[in-house]
Amino acid sequence: MKEKKVNKNKVWPKGYIETNKNIQDFDVRNDLIGNILKESPKKKFNTELFTVMAKRRSTRKFSSNPVEKWKIDKILAAADAAPTAGNCQGFEIFYVTESKKKEKLAKAANNQPYVNTPVLLVFCMNPSRINLDFTKIVIDKFSVQDATLAAAYSQLAASALGLSSIWIGMFDENEVKKIVGTDLRPTSFLCIGYPMKKRGPKTRRKLKDLIHVV
Ligand SMILES: Cc1cc2nc3c(=O)[nH]c(=O)nc-3n(C[C@H](O)[C@H](O)[C@H](O)COP(=O)(O)O)c2cc1C
Repeated sequence: MKEKKVNKNKVWPKGYIETNKNIQDFDVRNDLIGNILKESPKKKFNTELFTVMAKRRSTRKFSSNPVEKWKIDKILAAADAAPTAGNCQGFEIFYVTESKKKEKLAKAANNQPYVNTPVLLVFCMNPSRINLDFTKIVIDKFSVQDATLAAAYSQLAASALGLSSIWIGMFDENEVKKIVGTDLRPTSFLCIGYPMKKRGPKTRRKLKDLIHVV
């Protein structure tokens, strides 16, 4: 397939334009994902999926080192790559950069100070995007799943890039809406940065207790 010329100025966040165009060139999904997935990092990471999954560990102590823009782009692209109900993409991401807002969000999250991280993403439902002929209950359920799955993709991408994160599900939704400036219902925060200390993964229950063969 012919390589599409990349316009560097169009890379998110400046030029990310949502499009509903049905792009036929499957190598170029849109300006964000097309450009970002092509960009190869200077430093090599072990991005093998199962290694990333096995090694991921939540962090609540972050260093103040900033996260490189290309990594943020990849983390956002990962969210964009997640499957969504009917491909309607029933979710939105608020990328919070203002430090005052980060402080307020930490407070709104039951005073969890580690919310105030170098990269703070607030994932929200947007059921109005889901143009499927189902009941509101089903549409809302799809929307929660869309937002959650996108956040999970971003979390894994962050780990693959040598970063760490903490998923936040405990917050005052109305406060968050006010701080972020949206009517959309927030589902989770993903707080990302370089960990102070790298730690091994936590243990899990026995597989036989997790998996029920029916
Ligand atoms: C739905 C959900 C909600 C969570 N909410 C919080 C939270 O509000 N505060 C927090 O410190 N950690 C939160 N966590 C992180 C979990 O505590 C953490 O993932 C868990 O202890 C397992 O550790 P691991 O991620 O290192 O495997 C949440 C995780 C999930 C999936």
